[in-house]
Amino acid sequence: MRHFLKVTDLSTAEIIELVEAAKANIGEHSDILSGKSLGMIFAKPSTRTRVSFTVGAYELGGHVMFISEREMQLGRGETLEDTAEVLSRYLDGLVIRTYSQEDLERFTAASKIPVINGLTDERHPCQALADLMTISQFHDDFTKVKVAYLGDGNNVSTSLTNICAMVGASVAVCTPPELEPPEWAIAEAQELAVKGGGSVEFTYNPQEAVADADFLYTDVWFSMGQQRVPEKSRRLEPYRIDEKLLAAAGPDCRVMHCLPAHRGEEISAGVIDGPQSIVFQQAENRLHAQKELLKKLMGDAQA
Ligand code: CP
Ligand code: NVA
Repeated sequence: MRHFLKVTDLSTAEIIELVEAAKANIGEHSDILSGKSLGMIFAKPSTRTRVSFTVGAYELGGHVMFISEREMQLGRGETLEDTAEVLSRYLDGLVIRTYSQEDLERFTAASKIPVINGLTDERHPCQALADLMTISQFHDDFTKVKVAYLGDGNNVSTSLTNICAMVGASVAVCTPPELEPPEWAIAEAQELAVKGGGSVEFTYNPQEAVADADFLYTDVWFSMGQQRVPEKSRRLEPYRIDEKLLAAAGPDCRVMHCLPAHRGEEISAGVIDGPQSIVFQQAENRLHAQKELLKKLMGDAQA
């Protein structure tokens, strides 16, 4: 039985195979998950993750049950372990969106069914699968791709950096010094880049970061669960992807965003709605990539 709590729970070869299968199987309907039930426990809001997993599982013949964490006995003191043990007896797989990666790992240790991370404060691995699929729809050779991430060092930047490093791409993570990804995330990315043959650079200078980039990527300045602090916005202003920064990257550079976006904060309206933006293709790819993940983890021929 396999789980997908972080990008490295799949090998580089498995990730590339999954992305290729996702591209080849766009629009596929099958009965691979026939008779199987996928539970989805969410402690935070979601549009894409919730709907793409729901539709994806239906298109594979499975049944989906959405459960708001607030409505579970977890809030009244039932342990993660007891919950995992019980749900394992009803369901065939679970997508969990919550706060702490550590809690997710505790739950998973007690689970007897595959668990998929639908976002934690630390990681967003399903997003990274769709991101890589999107990149591969524009470039054949990951080792020749440069991705520049600008903004807050967060869950999305960590998973994006990891997956790019694993496949040998170059990544520049450009944040204000005090909003860099945590040390463990930097160390993890550097180690993966050494193994994967790519390069990871952590920098504070947006103009330098975007030079020669094939993709600019950004995410919200305030992630779910974070307080809006005006000082943080002030520090992030120079990292907004706007027309000037995109011009410095060049006319062939594409713009990515995991969404939801805040026009006028991390990205200008002109850029996200402009011709270099591929954000909706990227969002669509959540569905295609996650269907391959569900097949791999929950199908009869489980990897
Ligand atoms: N990108 C993403 O995970 O979107 P949702 O929060 O809408 O699921
Ligand atoms: N970093 C964002 C991503 C949302 C998909 C958050 O955690 O809120």
